[in-house]
Amino acid sequence: MEPRPASAGYAETTHIVLPNETNTMGNLFGGQLLKWLDISCAISAHRHSRRLAVTVAVNHVGFDQPIRLGDFVTIKSHVSRTFSTSMEIWADVWVEDQHTGASKLATSAIYTFVAVDDQGKPVAVPEVVPVTEEEVRRYAGALRRRQLRLILSGRMQPKDATELKALFT
Ligand SMILES: CC(C)(COP(=O)(O)OP(=O)(O)OC[C@H]1O[C@@H](n2cnc3c(N)ncnc32)[C@H](O)[C@@H]1OP(=O)(O)O)[C@@H](O)C(=O)NCCC(=O)NCCS
Repeated sequence: MEPRPASAGYAETTHIVLPNETNTMGNLFGGQLLKWLDISCAISAHRHSRRLAVTVAVNHVGFDQPIRLGDFVTIKSHVSRTFSTSMEIWADVWVEDQHTGASKLATSAIYTFVAVDDQGKPVAVPEVVPVTEEEVRRYAGALRRRQLRLILSGRMQPKDATELKALFT
């Protein structure tokens, strides 16, 4: 299977935060952000693999700062690295103040998707070729993050996580 550039899986979606998506303080619900992230990551996974892809894990999401009613939220996602059938997807959340136009990176998230066939069985995906500095950095760290998520999900013994252990030696 031909490797594909990280740009093949780029996706960008923009939303406006509406009243029914906020809590009583006027801040975006965490669950709403998770849903938007899931959709953007799914588009990235589909674009990269050109297969059906399902969410297998939400690995990291930080709610570092409140996102306010009326803000424009843009999610930019891409496949940072693939393994056999799984894909790590990285999503950056940009928040724009609709009055001032000021835009800032509010948080980043990491999801894992698996490509599947029509019966829902995992299928192989193309490798990612990172090009930009950021893509290279994210690609390089993905193996350690994979080992961590496989340990947390009971799929790997900590003693076998060689790349992860190397961080502490
Ligand atoms: C995704 C799914 C098909 C994987 O099936 P499975 O029997 O676990 O398949 P495998 O053991 O072959 O694992 C497939 C890949 O998933 C990865 N994986 C499985 N569980 C994982 C977890 N909890 N965290 C991270 N990766 C996981 C494996 O490491 C493997 O990756 P690799 O091929 O790159 O090495 C199955 O778990 C499933 O259907 N889950 C439900 C998906 C869903 O409904 N999502 C929400 C709606 S989109």
